[in-house]
Amino acid sequence: MTVERTRAEETAPASAGASPIIQATDVVKTYDTGRVEVHALRGVSLTIQRGEMVAIMGPSGCGKTTLLNCLSGLDTIDSGLIMVGGADINRMSDNEKTEYRARRMGFVFQFYNLLPVLSSVENVELPLLVSGVSAREARQKALAALGAVHLGDWAEHRPGELSGGQRQRVTIARALVNDPKLIFLDEPTLGLDPAGQRQMLQLIRNLARQRGTTVILSTHFLDEVEQACPRVIILNRGRVVAQGTVAEMIRKAAAPRTGRFQVPSEMQETALTALKGARGVASAAYADGHDGSLMITLDEASLVTAQSGGAGMRGAITALMDAGVPILSFELEGSRLSDAFFSMTKED
Ligand SMILES: Nc1ncnc2c1ncn2[C@@H]1O[C@H](COP(=O)(O)OP(=O)(O)OP(=O)(O)O)[C@@H](O)[C@H]1O
Ligand SMILES: [Mg+2]
Repeated sequence: MTVERTRAEETAPASAGASPIIQATDVVKTYDTGRVEVHALRGVSLTIQRGEMVAIMGPSGCGKTTLLNCLSGLDTIDSGLIMVGGADINRMSDNEKTEYRARRMGFVFQFYNLLPVLSSVENVELPLLVSGVSAREARQKALAALGAVHLGDWAEHRPGELSGGQRQRVTIARALVNDPKLIFLDEPTLGLDPAGQRQMLQLIRNLARQRGTTVILSTHFLDEVEQACPRVIILNRGRVVAQGTVAEMIRKAAAPRTGRFQVPSEMQETALTALKGARGVASAAYADGHDGSLMITLDEASLVTAQSGGAGMRGAITALMDAGVPILSFELEGSRLSDAFFSMTKED
């Protein structure tokens, strides 16, 4: 695939000429834990075009990891259909699936999954050795992949000697070493500071563009994603509740003036301090007689357009997340944005 074609697809992913690499229809996945049934995916339909970079977002437990596992054939589904590259992934035999995954997909899991006793280059060359590539060629390709993630000098180091961000980059090199058409990354920016998250997403985006790779990743961080991912799919409670560019989703919503956050009572002081310093937030206070509930109003500039109103709300949410405050529920006055984007009410 040429670079030109990839760029064209990225700028117009939904155009008539685009060709889907993944099509999911009404995917349902329920975990039976013995005591309770957990409805992790409740009828998810989505399409991902070749060469796209798409972020799956949503509150903890909404089904991001489950969705990535099902789309990549790592986990089976209860009902629905998942077509990958024109083939029904749930109809493949185990051997076919393993072969398909080894040849065409790359993975970065939510937790690093690097083998601690192997050096960076040994970790990266592992998938090649497993699929029968000669030791010499595997080493060559692994070193090139480490170079691509700017870790050429760290090839002989073990994971224990690397920072969290460096380890994440080793897993990205490992996911790319086979030159797959499709890579799945579950929270590749986990544990990084905002600048590190931005750099990581830019790195993934640049590598994917150069190679024409389709990227599907999950993450929690809106500001960082907005700059790197043309399209975002928001999941909540196992359903797709919104998708499009971040700017599109915000434009659709009315300009909010006030919002109300419910946070755990022991985190109220931390939350209040974080909200008072948040970008776009004019004031923050306890709501009268409403235990655990904090009210905010957005500043003047945030109210001029729906888009900057959304930016104010983003500032508040980002500030709470950065301060490690769980958002138990969230309401936004006069805005559909609350339903789609930030409806963080826990499963009842
Ligand atoms: N193997 C499993 N057995 C039982 N329940 C599971 C299993 N895996 C996930 N779940 C449940 O399915 C739901 C979705 O989980 P999932 O890991 O997909 O969420 P997530 O969006 O990736 O969350 P996070 O942001 O915390 O990683 C959760 O309620 C979770 O408890
Ligand atoms: Mg997850």
